[in-house]
Amino acid sequence: MQEHTTRIIYNIWAHFYDPLLTKLVQRRQEQAISRMDLNPGEWLLDIGIGTGLSLPFYSQDLNVVGLDISEGMLGKAKRRIEEMDFRRARLALADAMRLPFEDDSFDHILVSHVITVVSDPIRLIDEIRRVGKPGCRIVVINHFQSGNSIMALLEKWLCPLCQKIGWRSDLALEDLMVQTGLDVDFRYKLDNVDLWETVFITNTPAKKASDAKIPSGISAA
Ligand SMILES: C[S@@+](CC[C@H](N)C(=O)[O-])C[C@H]1O[C@@H](n2cnc3c(N)ncnc32)[C@H](O)[C@@H]1O
Repeated sequence: MQEHTTRIIYNIWAHFYDPLLTKLVQRRQEQAISRMDLNPGEWLLDIGIGTGLSLPFYSQDLNVVGLDISEGMLGKAKRRIEEMDFRRARLALADAMRLPFEDDSFDHILVSHVITVVSDPIRLIDEIRRVGKPGCRIVVINHFQSGNSIMALLEKWLCPLCQKIGWRSDLALEDLMVQTGLDVDFRYKLDNVDLWETVFITNTPAKKASDAKIPSGISAA
């Protein structure tokens, strides 16, 4: 899916996202964020933050940057930030595959239900590695292609339909890891029949550590 189409689709989704998906999404986000080992003053990038459903689970002493390509979704996130009076949260309107931040800017990166929405997941991972500090914790919440061959076939078959409503259903986590050279630290599902997974990864590139700084290209919410 190309980014200009994604933007249009999610500007429409912005009107229905919270009423339809809050419960489903927040179950996973709450669990994942509680396991992220976040410390006061650290910088966290929430890629494809959408309407900001993750925001209630961050402590307000964390510096949170939410980035999204859809101004409709970001508008909802902005309202949530104002309602929460979350002063250390900022938003950026940008394409996740061209992140407007310097190298080694973030301590933690959350990618919740986004990796199968972008047109080039490998490029997204490359960008995440670039802006994440060495050792940065990268957490991906997503549906990945099933290991069961019949389910995988069904997911491939359903993919064109899924793309029309905003994501693809045929991305295999193993392929992504092989192509990016990253290793999974651990992964889990909320229960046996859960279609979504949470995957914890550590940023491993040999890059020099940089001092904590306000990443360029962000503005206050
Ligand atoms: C399924 S929603 C997930 C929103 C939120 N992370 C959540 O879990 O509720 C996907 C989000 O990714 C955003 N998105 C898709 N492609 C993007 C891109 N290339 N750059 C930035 N955001 C993107 C969409 O606008 C949308 O808000």
